[in-house]
Amino acid sequence: MTDRLSEETRGVLIVGAGPAGLVLGNLLLAAGVDCVIVERQSRAHVEQRARAGFLAANTVRILTDAGLADGLLKDGRQHDTCAFRTESGEFELAYGDRGRGEAHTVYPQQHLVRDLVAEFLARGGDLRFGTAAVEIAGLASDRASVTVRTPDGGSHRLHGAFVAGCDGRHGTARATVPATAARRHVRDHGVSWLALLAAAPQSMAAVAYAVHRDGFAGHMARTPDVTRYYLQVDPGDDPDAWTDRRVWEALDRRMRTDVHGPLHRGEILERRVLAMRSDVLDPIQYGRLFLVGDAASLISPSAAKGANLAVMEAETLARALAARLHGDDERLLARYSADCLPRIWRAQEFSHWMIGLLHGPTGDGDEAAFLRALQHARLESLRTSRRHQDHFADNYVGI
Ligand code: APR
Repeated sequence: MTDRLSEETRGVLIVGAGPAGLVLGNLLLAAGVDCVIVERQSRAHVEQRARAGFLAANTVRILTDAGLADGLLKDGRQHDTCAFRTESGEFELAYGDRGRGEAHTVYPQQHLVRDLVAEFLARGGDLRFGTAAVEIAGLASDRASVTVRTPDGGSHRLHGAFVAGCDGRHGTARATVPATAARRHVRDHGVSWLALLAAAPQSMAAVAYAVHRDGFAGHMARTPDVTRYYLQVDPGDDPDAWTDRRVWEALDRRMRTDVHGPLHRGEILERRVLAMRSDVLDPIQYGRLFLVGDAASLISPSAAKGANLAVMEAETLARALAARLHGDDERLLARYSADCLPRIWRAQEFSHWMIGLLHGPTGDGDEAAFLRALQHARLESLRTSRRHQDHFADNYVGI
């Protein structure tokens, strides 16, 4: 006997409840567009997954306009200065006073996700946890479908006018786009970071980027009790080989705490190795499937753009879907990919430039010395040129 497949017809089918899917779902609900979100993980899992935390001014504007920013306006912290430490000393760049004069709001991504889930449910949204999309089909017809595995192990098929693929880098949406239908631009930057969360208050007011012969080190505030640290490590390094002692020794050396003062230490709550990779699909649409967030493009975390791009794309798509489903106006939807890709590439360009700024060669040969001198010149230009600082500020906070 075969299991019966249950079926259901809805408006927009959203796969994935990260920042991309949740912002899109909330905006669609607000626009009166029927939608359903399916999420493979449990609610507790998505609400505790620590990721990024730097929200750009445009992101805060979108969330505020949509009534989704109560938590971040209450508990988020304004951040407008970053510092660069090199062998020549430290300089601070008050980017909130440069360029367009915008600051970041620091608010841990899992808190934003928690707020977006609560708001979606409070507005009567249909969000199904423990429900994984296993197949996306019918994308050339007006009856697209997402087949899901339900929490009890059954199969269920949702039909809808459109599918929003918000299921991240390894999701089903991206895998559904045939290789011949989209160009995939991929870059492995050849650099890896050990991402650490320490149960310790921040050690300095600013985000600090340390450029060192041993490799890059970074310090970023998260909450009053938790700080994010990064250490450049060899690609493929085992995070567990980085014992607490080794981590703090490397941070002290690269952050030059003998000159600039000690770091607050605390239990290391998380250690993960992240490869700096970029991956952009073009177009970010395939028939009735629209990709949003990491499903559309992967950006290295060097400039904290991932979540901000996801929110920008979600807003663009929500507007386009509402125009199509309410007003039968196809124009915005037809332009979704063309509207988003220039901004995605702008963010990629800046992120790529940041990688070059922060990571010098570690060797001692002539070429390594040359590249280090270039890196030093880049940092000097940023330290001394107000025009360069304006450009940096606009790109660092904006998209
Ligand atoms: N079915 C349903 N849900 C799925 C499936 C699937 N087959 N595969 C993945 N998911 C879910 C994941 O469990 C996750 O909750 O999709 C969600 C994708 O969320 P994110 O990975 O956070 O991606 P996105 O919403 O695009 O995030 C935007 O924020 O911090 C950054 O790194 C993050 O750059 C990313 C950005």
